[in-house]
Amino acid sequence: MLMNTKIIMLQGAMDLETELLIASLEQPQEYLLGKWRFVEGIYKDKPLVIAATSIGSANAAAATALGIEHFHPAAVINQGTAGGHDPALKAFDIVLGKQSFDASSYRTAKEEQADWQHMELMGAYAYDPQEKTFLPQSVYYAGDQKLLEAAHKAASDYTRGKVVDGCFASSNTWNRQKERIRYLHEQFGSSCEEMEVHSAAQICQQYKIPFLGIRIISNTEFQDEEFQPESAKACQQFVLKVVQNITY
Ligand code: 5AD
Repeated sequence: MLMNTKIIMLQGAMDLETELLIASLEQPQEYLLGKWRFVEGIYKDKPLVIAATSIGSANAAAATALGIEHFHPAAVINQGTAGGHDPALKAFDIVLGKQSFDASSYRTAKEEQADWQHMELMGAYAYDPQEKTFLPQSVYYAGDQKLLEAAHKAASDYTRGKVVDGCFASSNTWNRQKERIRYLHEQFGSSCEEMEVHSAAQICQQYKIPFLGIRIISNTEFQDEEFQPESAKACQQFVLKVVQNITY
């Protein structure tokens, strides 16, 4: 490992979302922490650790906490595929996470009949340093400004689609109903949905580690585009460019 250079952790859920990153590393070193695979190595003189989180919020949170405890990264990027919520987004467009929310954390109105639109977001329980206990914290977590700037610099070289600032709706669900998707977009400002960003953001917030979500649109009901595995590759290539712009 390069001494005195801070390591950056890049996370991906599925193999197709981490294999290009792992293959790009020089001097790769494998770790198994709990049940989660981490590969540490060098990319263009920068120390990186790639975390294979697996799918879903619990896996992402566990892998984030274990990775932070073991590697002490200076920053964490959670990257991969996502489904479009903003009707303007197409497959291969990239969303940079200005913010995220837990789309499964909501309270419905008190009603006899089910109307899934009558709900308010509740946010996540997270450690409160003042009260020294876990309390409901803010509904939205913000992406780190410096990491966002590094991503903006990489955006001008990206030719396969647009790169936009946006908001992730994270939960262990895959929505295909346009009305529901449109509601989440219009009511809560989501650009796209996926299953890991917000839980990784929450753990990083607790450890005070700069965090950014970077997701590529791999499918969207509004453009009638089914899941495109190739997009995962394009996202990893973009993230490697972003990493080059991070100055720690
Ligand atoms: N809805 C939810 N998750 C999605 N993913 C890609 N597209 C979507 C979508 N439309 C990602 C999740 C998870 C895996 C199933 O794919 O983040 O890791």
